[in-house]
Amino acid sequence: MTIQRVSSKWTKTKVLLQSRQLTRYIPLTRKYSRAALAEMLNERSLVYIKPDIGTYGNGVMSVERLHELKPQEQGSEPASPEKYKLHYVTSSQEFSSLDDLHRAIRDRTQQKLYLLQHGIFKLKYRDRSFDLRVLTQKTPYGSWETTGIIGRVAAKNKIITNYHSGGSIRMLDEVLEEHATQERINLLEKELYELGVETAKQLQKEYPRLKEIGLDVAIDQNLIPWILEVNTLPAILPFKKFFKDKSIYRRIERYAIAYGRLSSPGKGSRSKSKA
Ligand SMILES: Nc1ncnc2c1ncn2[C@@H]1O[C@H](COP(=O)(O)OP(=O)(O)O)[C@@H](O)[C@H]1O
Ligand SMILES: [Mg+2]
Repeated sequence: MTIQRVSSKWTKTKVLLQSRQLTRYIPLTRKYSRAALAEMLNERSLVYIKPDIGTYGNGVMSVERLHELKPQEQGSEPASPEKYKLHYVTSSQEFSSLDDLHRAIRDRTQQKLYLLQHGIFKLKYRDRSFDLRVLTQKTPYGSWETTGIIGRVAAKNKIITNYHSGGSIRMLDEVLEEHATQERINLLEKELYELGVETAKQLQKEYPRLKEIGLDVAIDQNLIPWILEVNTLPAILPFKKFFKDKSIYRRIERYAIAYGRLSSPGKGSRSKSKA
């Protein structure tokens, strides 16, 4: 039986939101529209816009609201002139009205489905944003197990952390060491291991042939983890290249062979994976 893959971020998000344990880990997500953009920018100063189906950070944008909001009860004049900064993967542009901003976004998205999501102010490692990749796999015994976590550090001034966009890989302890004690890091690590398993179990209810997932998790300034997306064809190789402790990759590989993603030891991945 083939391993199940699900590409729509919107579909996966809806399934995850059905789990009480998971809702608090998922940033508010809506389908992109001008109205949704206006509402979200009224609540948040940072929002992300991304293709429903996409990989490697392609097409991901973010918007910073640079002006202050006017106090609710007071007059109709804004507290300061409207100003938005739209970030593409490698460039940015400023706008002084929501209509202009929306037009520029629509130019990029055309009529395709894009999602709008609360932006997470990601922690930084040496002045670069990072997020985490949590790999969770089906074991040969039928249970789910989180088998590895790595930190993905963005290239300088990039809004995305994808490896294909110049990002680099670090150990979890390394990216967190400026921000937390070892004890706190261990607690967070445990939470992430459980989060991977919970997410897999929830998705499996809808997609019974799922065997592996990779969660993109952002850590905010309060050390709270947020699930940005769940990949159903996660990259495995970074775990091989990166971990000095070879037993970590050996287990990942053993599970992947058992469910048919990899053919035999050392031969590498059968299907192209995303990072
Ligand atoms: N809501 C968000 N807040 C902060 N950063 C985000 C958000 N959504 C995406 N990103 C950044 O953009 C990257 C790519 O977005 P993602 O949803 O993982 O799409 P892709 O399928 O292209 O990898 C993430 O790894 C993260 O660095
Ligand atoms: Mg991703």
